[in-house]
Amino acid sequence: MTAIIDSNIEIAAALLRDGQCVAIPTETVYGLAANALDREAAGKIFKIKNRPEFDPLIIHVDSIQTALKYVEAFPEKAMKLARAFWPGPLTLILPKKKIIPFEVTSGLDTVGIRVPQHDLTLQLLENLKFPLAAPSANPFGYVSPTNAEHVIDQLGDKINYILDGGECHIGIESTIVGFEKDDVVIYRQGGLTQEMIEGVIGQVKVQTISSSNPKAPGMLTSHYSPLTKVILVKEPLTSILPNSGYIAYKNAPIGILPEKTFILSESENLFEAARRLYAGLRLLDAKKFNQIYVEMVPNEGLGVAINDRITRASS
Ligand code: TXA
Ligand code: MG
Repeated sequence: MTAIIDSNIEIAAALLRDGQCVAIPTETVYGLAANALDREAAGKIFKIKNRPEFDPLIIHVDSIQTALKYVEAFPEKAMKLARAFWPGPLTLILPKKKIIPFEVTSGLDTVGIRVPQHDLTLQLLENLKFPLAAPSANPFGYVSPTNAEHVIDQLGDKINYILDGGECHIGIESTIVGFEKDDVVIYRQGGLTQEMIEGVIGQVKVQTISSSNPKAPGMLTSHYSPLTKVILVKEPLTSILPNSGYIAYKNAPIGILPEKTFILSESENLFEAARRLYAGLRLLDAKKFNQIYVEMVPNEGLGVAINDRITRASS
């Protein structure tokens, strides 16, 4: 069995109503979706991804109004962020209603929720009477998929249908934000920058690092990684080991063959770099080098999330 790649919302909806998993496009990365109100369907996601049960899923809805059906409370600052950035790459951690099964939230009484910014998936959600639980559509720990081909490469024999929505235009996962008493906390850097968030609600805390952070259980230090060893490049190198790949921000170092290099953004545009990072890691991973060098990018704006992923890939 190989998954069908197509853009038919009716077929995707029918499979999801039947309790099956379907890969869906979003603006960040492709998700592996199932009915979030059906514990059995959600359980299939963990199996297909080989994902540990302690790593909670986030759920996707079509609007703020629909989100209100699944959360007990929506703090004022959360509502301000939702109004400003949904649909968009922002996941809010909020207290869940009973209707969301603990299988989805890995036993937590909070749930991660977002409205994705993708027409096809928004139409799909409008056609369904339930929210979609969806982690990134990759085997646990590997690089996330940013097009339908990436999904079929890895999960093509485990699912029936991939809803094809083209290339993801952000290319890096959503920013995850939680609310602790009066504090707003970023648990995962992502497609929405800290500056954008602070522009709406003022100063926030950042708490993303550890593998054992109980507030973001799935955020392991080593994650988002290709099979090939990744070496982080903080300062320009003068030489590299033989049989290596090289991901550069703007310019490949002189002397490295073009087929061994991948440029993130010749114009030094961090949005373009984010959009291309995972495709670059996959491309060079397939060439089976002994190692892939990856340059860090300027640590500002979206660069913070890019550097986070590069660092985790190298851990
Ligand atoms: O952009 C995205 O967020 C993509 C697309 C498909 O929407 N999804 C995604 O899902 O990246 P996933 O499962 O790969 O990462 C979601 C992370 C989990 O690993 C976990 O760390 C965190 O969200 N999370 C989920 N529910 C949580 C909760 N209740 N409390 C704290 N962290 C939670
Ligand atoms: Mg993931």
